[in-house]
Amino acid sequence: MVSLADVRAHNATLKSLAPNLVAIFVGGTSGISHYTALEFARNTRSPHIYLVGRNQTAAANITAELKSINSSSTVEFIKKDVSLLRQVDEACKEIKGKEKKVNLLFMTVGYLTLKGRNETEEGLDHKFALNYYARARFMHNLAPLLDAAAKDDDSKATLSRVFSVYDPALGKNRDFNFSDPSLKENFSVRNCATHGSALGNFAMEHLAKQWPNTSFIHEMPGIVETRAGGSLWLKALYTVLSPFSVDKKESGERHLFAATAPRYAPRAKADSVEGVVDGADGIKGSGHYHLSWNGETQASTKRADKMRAEGAEAKLWTHTTEVFRKICEEGGKY
Ligand SMILES: NC(=O)c1ccc[n+]([C@@H]2O[C@H](COP(=O)([O-])OP(=O)(O)OC[C@H]3O[C@@H](n4cnc5c(N)ncnc54)[C@H](OP(=O)(O)O)[C@@H]3O)[C@@H](O)[C@H]2O)c1
Repeated sequence: MVSLADVRAHNATLKSLAPNLVAIFVGGTSGISHYTALEFARNTRSPHIYLVGRNQTAAANITAELKSINSSSTVEFIKKDVSLLRQVDEACKEIKGKEKKVNLLFMTVGYLTLKGRNETEEGLDHKFALNYYARARFMHNLAPLLDAAAKDDDSKATLSRVFSVYDPALGKNRDFNFSDPSLKENFSVRNCATHGSALGNFAMEHLAKQWPNTSFIHEMPGIVETRAGGSLWLKALYTVLSPFSVDKKESGERHLFAATAPRYAPRAKADSVEGVVDGADGIKGSGHYHLSWNGETQASTKRADKMRAEGAEAKLWTHTTEVFRKICEEGGKY
């Protein structure tokens, strides 16, 4: 476990990085993205922060909060329903119109529900679209800007990281149905969680090779009090589990640490980093990492190794690009 003292000591060094770092918080109007954006603003110089979500009032409140913490921050709200990939494309177009580089893509978009399949007009399940397909589309679209950040002439401005908060373990401890990745025929809440997690894991494994100057992190945040616990039964569950939960500020601090610490280095730079950790495939510094809430890496599993041996990385990315083609390039549905 990374101690909170180490987390704080590292975060305090971030002011020595270049000013104007760019961070996109997808799901920035609530919860873990909100808490992390606060710490990002507190610990960096003149940050450019983008909050992506739907709730204008929450965005206005968080913008004011960020500005009060760091008056040199630039904060922009991008109002989009990113359960639709075509709206993800619009969000990315807006970002690309304003920024040439992105240092951090931080994604928490989603919600908890026990409801069954609920198709969007693009033919994907709504929750599944948020937990995986929208995140994959953001990664795909913004990878060139993350790569550009990694190649900045100023070595203090080369942070380049993608961070997805969900749960990597679900996708490597349960069976994956290769014949129905989007769960058109085999949808259940459990399968949706397993597939969303596995697809996220292997997308990152793929992208870490394609974009070796960027590191990719998939993390389980622990229990954190957020709006995800909005329903009555979840509120009750949080109350019961509160002795085991991570404090909101600590969650933000720990996420900022994991989103910036050199030990989770991109593949291309890992050799030069002392203390670099094992990647999700068990290879030190492979550029894609599975983390627990406390910064510890999660090892691969027999199931994940088997999926890897069966070509999951290529198969699942081929599926993902097929979804992108049908929805984003052809304007249809999957
Ligand atoms: N909190 C926990 O204890 C916990 C535990 C394990 C895993 N997780 C996972 O961690 C992630 C983050 O959770 P959280 O607790 O921070 O959640 P949260 O407080 O509910 O925040 C979710 C964010 O997603 C945005 N969002 C939802 N639907 C959207 C849509 N269609 N388009 C655009 N934005 C949308 C919401 O913004 P708008 O309302 O503005 O749209 C909000 O900003 C989730 O994937 C969750 O499953 C959380």
